[in-house]
Amino acid sequence: MTGLFISFEGIDGAGKSSHIDALAGAFRAAGRHVVLTREPGGTPLAEKLRALALNDPMDPLTEALVMFAARRDHLVQVIEPALARSDVVLCDRFTDATFAYQGGGRGFDWDVLAQLERWVQHTSAATLREPDLTLWFDLAPEVAAARLSGARVPDKFESQPAEFFRRVAAGYERRAAEDPSRFARIAAAAPREEVAQAVAAAVRSKGWLA
Ligand code: TYD
Repeated sequence: MTGLFISFEGIDGAGKSSHIDALAGAFRAAGRHVVLTREPGGTPLAEKLRALALNDPMDPLTEALVMFAARRDHLVQVIEPALARSDVVLCDRFTDATFAYQGGGRGFDWDVLAQLERWVQHTSAATLREPDLTLWFDLAPEVAAARLSGARVPDKFESQPAEFFRRVAAGYERRAAEDPSRFARIAAAAPREEVAQAVAAAVRSKGWLA
């Protein structure tokens, strides 16, 4: 058995959360040890950085650096040790969110993000850590906004206008086009049960669940 690293992505309101829990249950039922985690966050330090990133205004480079600082701590403290133990790591957002939100949404330089990615995610000279699979919950920004409205007090990103989320969605498109074999696009507008089946099918097609 080898470790597995699966990330969950999509614009705010795309509805990934309940599917993360369901997939964790499926892996546990198959006898795997599962680490459920999220970004920004996943360690005490990274959770402090999350609170800053989601609430405090900052310039785009600062925002990108805070995301990558949190990611570095999370990788070193949680993700790499879990993969070394052959655990299944299910991560609610990872680097693709930085490309989508800071790169697409904020318009920050894509190539600088790619450089930061190399600095932060090279865990050895030979290994650039990326998820083995990224489940991308794809939903029209208008539909996602309608799902979110009234749900709770919006954070810094959730309160952005529809135009911001169109750029975030375009960022995900671009990122998926750069590494298509890693991405499984999930049509998130479908009824919840259908979405759950699409998630399970994507994981089964890799041979990771019976
Ligand atoms: P989210 O994952 O949606 O958590 P919750 O469901 O608790 O709100 O919130 C994280 C927010 O942070 C989301 O709006 C996307 C944003 N984000 C970035 O802008 N860049 C990043 O690199 C990451 C990981 C998240």
